[in-house]
Amino acid sequence: MDHSRAPVLEAIENFRRRGHLPFIPPGHKQGRGVDQRVLDVLGPDVFASDIIVLNGLDDREMSNEVISNAEDLMADAVGADRAYFSTCGSSLSVKSCIITVARPGERLLVSRNAHKSVVAGLIISGVHPVWVHPRWDPEWEWAYPPGPDEVVTACERAPDTRGLLLITPTDYGTCADIAAIADVCHERDKTLIVDEAWGAHLPFHDGLPAWAMDAGADLCVTSVHKMGAGIEQSSVYHLQGDRVAPEVLAMRADLLNTTSPSALVYACLDGWRRQMYEHGHELLDRAIDLVHETRARLGPLVRVVSREDVVGDGKAFDHDPLKIVMDVRELGISGYTAAEWLRDNQRVDVGLSDHRRIAAQITIADDDETVSRLVDAIAALAKEAENLPRARHVEIPDPGELELDQAMPPRDAFFALAEHVDAADAVGRICAETISPYPPGVPAALPGEVITQPVIDYLRSGREAGMYIPDPTDVDVQKIRVVKR
Ligand SMILES: Cc1ncc(COP(=O)(O)O)c(C=O)c1O
Repeated sequence: MDHSRAPVLEAIENFRRRGHLPFIPPGHKQGRGVDQRVLDVLGPDVFASDIIVLNGLDDREMSNEVISNAEDLMADAVGADRAYFSTCGSSLSVKSCIITVARPGERLLVSRNAHKSVVAGLIISGVHPVWVHPRWDPEWEWAYPPGPDEVVTACERAPDTRGLLLITPTDYGTCADIAAIADVCHERDKTLIVDEAWGAHLPFHDGLPAWAMDAGADLCVTSVHKMGAGIEQSSVYHLQGDRVAPEVLAMRADLLNTTSPSALVYACLDGWRRQMYEHGHELLDRAIDLVHETRARLGPLVRVVSREDVVGDGKAFDHDPLKIVMDVRELGISGYTAAEWLRDNQRVDVGLSDHRRIAAQITIADDDETVSRLVDAIAALAKEAENLPRARHVEIPDPGELELDQAMPPRDAFFALAEHVDAADAVGRICAETISPYPPGVPAALPGEVITQPVIDYLRSGREAGMYIPDPTDVDVQKIRVVKR
């Protein structure tokens, strides 16, 4: 295939060059109707390239196959049979995959370190999860994706499940053994979906953790806006093999997709594929060198989590070095305080922050200048740390205490008659909402699970320590929405 082509970008260029005059959406008509103050901030090109697909980028019957050609190029570039562009992030792509693999009422193995968008997919679809519990590391107080052994046990417990939804890499950059898990699934005729939202860059460098399609997954979801160079919401999901019929995937995804996809998102996906096909290896080589140098420079300032810390028996299978996780506990502060201080005082924004860590991602966009700013900012933080508020204790549950009983399917509990009770009275009650510390957005409790005291203690003490919990009806978790008796 000719990877120097970029069908969506070419269609945008054509549309603009030919001077089309649209009497169809978008109503701003390539910027003509946009308030100058909006143009002053966003620039005119954003609007000039915001073009409807049907009868805009392509003709009335899509006969130039602009989008499908771009998707075919993407599939070819990453070694999938098919690729599908999506304009609502992995949040939507993962739902399309769930409703393709399992029908309402059927069971699906789901790794419990799932993002809240997976839980939303289970609620909307009525698919029943059988949780596969991740590996808990008491020293680091975090979870790694499950390994093949945990998946075998889960398959034995629930042989009727349609497949497995595995989440890897985690927001902390830890990765599962996808190939071994794919074998476990396929030996039992189960479909493997991988939520690789954090792995859009993985296909383009063999020194990085395995890419799900190479490792034998049937379906895999990526957010190109996360570790790649797409604008926000850019997502691609991929298919290979014959366990999933492409027409069923297309039809189920069509149920959720917008009928007005953003040409801007599609154009970025198209351009990213061309860039990575042509230069991905070299760009990632540079990013990997840069991240190793940066880790070495950060080492004397703060505890940097290394591959050796997280990969090994009973831990993660692999590690993405581009996620630099820094443990700030020894500085006496929480990750929340560290992230806020860096933003307010250094204008340096980190991604994940939790009760003891922050994470900074390095991508192909970084260079010596950007990483030096990060290093300088962390040096300043280390110096200032003793003057910052001390980290408050967060009650981290013991491993077994994190495994709540699923008393009702998430959908039934979410839509059940519900009431709000004081957190203290919620113990033993069935949760009717999703409660996810964010990031990483993995629910501590979700609809249908039986609430326990350790989980309440974790959420309440976490909230007091600065944890952000956006999704429950009471974000302070003083009250919890539970199923009415
Ligand atoms: C593992 C995982 N899956 C899915 C998503 C949703 O991705 P998006 O923000 O692209 O919708 C996220 C977002 O953080 C995530 O971490």
